[in-house]
Amino acid sequence: MRDIRCRTSHNDKAKSQKIVMVKRIAILGSTGSIGRNTLRVIDALGPAYQAVALSAHNNVELLAEQTKRYKPKLIAISNAACEKQLRNLVSGLDVKISAGPESLIELAQSDDADIVLTAIVGVAGLPAVLAAAKKGKRLAIANKEPLVVAGELLTRAVRENGCTILPVDSEHSAIFQAMQAGPREQVSRIILTGSGGPFRQASIEDIENVTPEQALAHPVWNMGPKITIDSATMMNKALEIIEARWLFDMPAEKIDVLIHPQSIVHSLVEFVDGSVIAQLGTPDMCLPIQYALTYPQRVAGISKHLRLDELGKLTFERPNVKTFRALPLGYEVARNGGTAAAVFNAANEAAVEEFLAGRIRFVSIVELIEHCLNKHNIKHTASLEELLEADAWARKEVKQRAQKHKSVRA
Ligand SMILES: NC(=O)c1ccc[n+]([C@@H]2O[C@H](COP(=O)([O-])OP(=O)(O)OC[C@H]3O[C@@H](n4cnc5c(N)ncnc54)[C@H](OP(=O)(O)O)[C@@H]3O)[C@@H](O)[C@H]2O)c1
Repeated sequence: MRDIRCRTSHNDKAKSQKIVMVKRIAILGSTGSIGRNTLRVIDALGPAYQAVALSAHNNVELLAEQTKRYKPKLIAISNAACEKQLRNLVSGLDVKISAGPESLIELAQSDDADIVLTAIVGVAGLPAVLAAAKKGKRLAIANKEPLVVAGELLTRAVRENGCTILPVDSEHSAIFQAMQAGPREQVSRIILTGSGGPFRQASIEDIENVTPEQALAHPVWNMGPKITIDSATMMNKALEIIEARWLFDMPAEKIDVLIHPQSIVHSLVEFVDGSVIAQLGTPDMCLPIQYALTYPQRVAGISKHLRLDELGKLTFERPNVKTFRALPLGYEVARNGGTAAAVFNAANEAAVEEFLAGRIRFVSIVELIEHCLNKHNIKHTASLEELLEADAWARKEVKQRAQKHKSVRA
């Protein structure tokens, strides 16, 4: 972190010299929902927080706009085919441009950044997240997929390189905050909450033929398309169980899921004495993003303050595991570990893509994931190469098998 010494008077240096620690932030995925919210948070935090590096995959127009506004030192476009267009759009600006998947690693390891906030959707962000951990960066992690797929490798890299992980996912940020109420060994249970998504009260028959448009209409959160579909299938909660397993070193049997449609209690931690500590707030990702940037400080921000009296009541219910098969599958994968998680995640990413393109039905997403898990021989201690092999196998398997599943539009 860099000091900015602001001198208001030349005569009385001792009194007037105010030291401001500038936090320099690299945002992987600055054009996405989390990335854009991070820039809103940085705007509100003022000059002590600077966006020094930004990345996008396809959205060159928005990346160019952000470059003009935030004046980062480095920008990365991971889809190399977009490089020329980006160069044209930012010509004349004093910024280094990198292109291709490797550019994300350069950005994640940049000496210009103190904090690397990772918000790339899917496993595509894994190499860069690992690279940031190996460089000992402070890692504000929004994308759960790298932790799900390579939780063991990533947490080891974090330990060995003195890296700090600060969760941005609202549930994991809540757990991280609630855990500060007592010693780690006195935590008896983690309780993840979830809104239940748009089909919370539906039966399997009700959701058989829902369209992408219906599944994309989340009742509470406004997020990118992949995580919105994950919320509708409850794969998001299943991935979060595995994410929590690695982030907090908790066995799957000590992680519970509760449906809480109002999304005000973001998660809870139970201690051995029976006390349950929760973190509450309005459903707004700016709050966990800001906490990850300012930690351990808390500062006034843009998130609306909670008025419990205006809300009336908060409700909790058990999840419907008959309709939402993803949840029991998530527990099974969290217990098995190894390559199972890579298959689980990749099959989901590929199936969501098929569903959004209208090639398979909504219920086929979880059927395809289950099919891949059943067919896969788990390797319990896996290298990065083996995890990526399992990932590639599952994607191929889903593509082939998807052709046999009926499209919603057929
Ligand atoms: N949105 C939320 O409220 C929320 C909450 C909790 C956790 N998360 C997690 O945060 C992550 C991001 O979610 P999001 O909703 O912000 O997603 P999003 O809106 O779809 O944005 C994804 C970002 O990743 C970039 N990207 C897409 N494919 C890429 C690839 N192959 N290589 C490199 N970059 C790529 C996109 O660039 P382009 O714009 O150029 O395509 C964009 O900047 C996900 O892991 C999600 O689970 C999100």
